[in-house]
Amino acid sequence: MKNASLLLLPGDGIGPEVIAELSRVIEWFAQHREVTFDITLDDLGGAAYDRYGTPLADDTLQKAKEVDAIVMGSVGGPKWDDVARHLRPEAGLLTLRKELDLFANLRPATCRPALASASSLHEELVSGLDILILRELTAGVYFGEPRGIEEMPDGRRRALDTQVYFESEIERLLHVGFDLASKRNGKLHSVEKANVMETGVFWREIATRVGKEYPAITLEHMYADNCAMQLVRAPKQFDVIATDNLFGDILSDCAAMLTGSLGMLPSASLGAEINGTRAALYEPVHGSAPDIAGQGKANPLATILSFAMCLRYSFDMQADADLLESAVDKVLGDNIRTIDIAAKGVAPVSTSEMGTALINALSTLDT
Ligand code: IPM
Ligand code: MG
Repeated sequence: MKNASLLLLPGDGIGPEVIAELSRVIEWFAQHREVTFDITLDDLGGAAYDRYGTPLADDTLQKAKEVDAIVMGSVGGPKWDDVARHLRPEAGLLTLRKELDLFANLRPATCRPALASASSLHEELVSGLDILILRELTAGVYFGEPRGIEEMPDGRRRALDTQVYFESEIERLLHVGFDLASKRNGKLHSVEKANVMETGVFWREIATRVGKEYPAITLEHMYADNCAMQLVRAPKQFDVIATDNLFGDILSDCAAMLTGSLGMLPSASLGAEINGTRAALYEPVHGSAPDIAGQGKANPLATILSFAMCLRYSFDMQADADLLESAVDKVLGDNIRTIDIAAKGVAPVSTSEMGTALINALSTLDT
């Protein structure tokens, strides 16, 4: 019997609602499979700010370092708009990523068969889509110094952010990218703006060099703006897209929508492998959606699919991850949909009804 320790951080907005459904799924696995979970719940983001006066308490960070894996809901919301930047909900998440060195952010955009018609793109462009955005998560303009808003001696004000990458940071991300591509369809797009940015020139040079170690992988370089365009023009040309922190943030939102709804997309943020284990945080790509928070409308599937990634990457439970993904396909195939993916003429279900349907599907499929 395997024992896995998990830290659940529901966060803000719809986070607590989607994590509540995930808790039921975790409970199902504990009851039906060869695994038990030690679960710790804590606050992150605005919820942590309200409770502890900081978006990531030291004690929470300590727990995060001790557990096998973390699953997060979402952070942020208008309630904390006027809070100082270093205390904003997002700062808690960024500190967590940085402190655990979760540099490799995997954001798969898979168009589940039942949802091809829910995409804002023509069905034939997205049906069968299976791409993976690999975003660098602990460096670049999100963390570069100097940054700030300042007043010049002549009285003019200005703001600055710094895009900075060490060679090692780009290298390790690309190694993950080529490794992933070799387990998938053998293609990697390295995405930057080498036409205007020094970090882009540097990124391209390193990608070319690292690519020589992976002769079986087709490497293509692409400018980030072109990539955005190609994602909505012909998304199936991609397999793995490896890119920096900021471009990855933008391109992954874009890729998510190809699949029907931002409410469907999971992600994994992984650290370096040390002695066979790696720090890992799993979270839905969607945000806290304050406009629908507390109304039971949120789609819990992105969070549940994030847990499937957790089973896969942190616990090597491939069959269980497959089962969970099949259960998601089953409920969608049965036309059970939250409002973001509702099928024409079928009344949408609530967040908890979706959770119940998923549990039933797990029991049906588990033979
Ligand atoms: C994401 C989010 C975060 C980011 C925010 C909440 C800090 O947009 O994970 O994509 O910009 O990285
Ligand atoms: Mg984002």
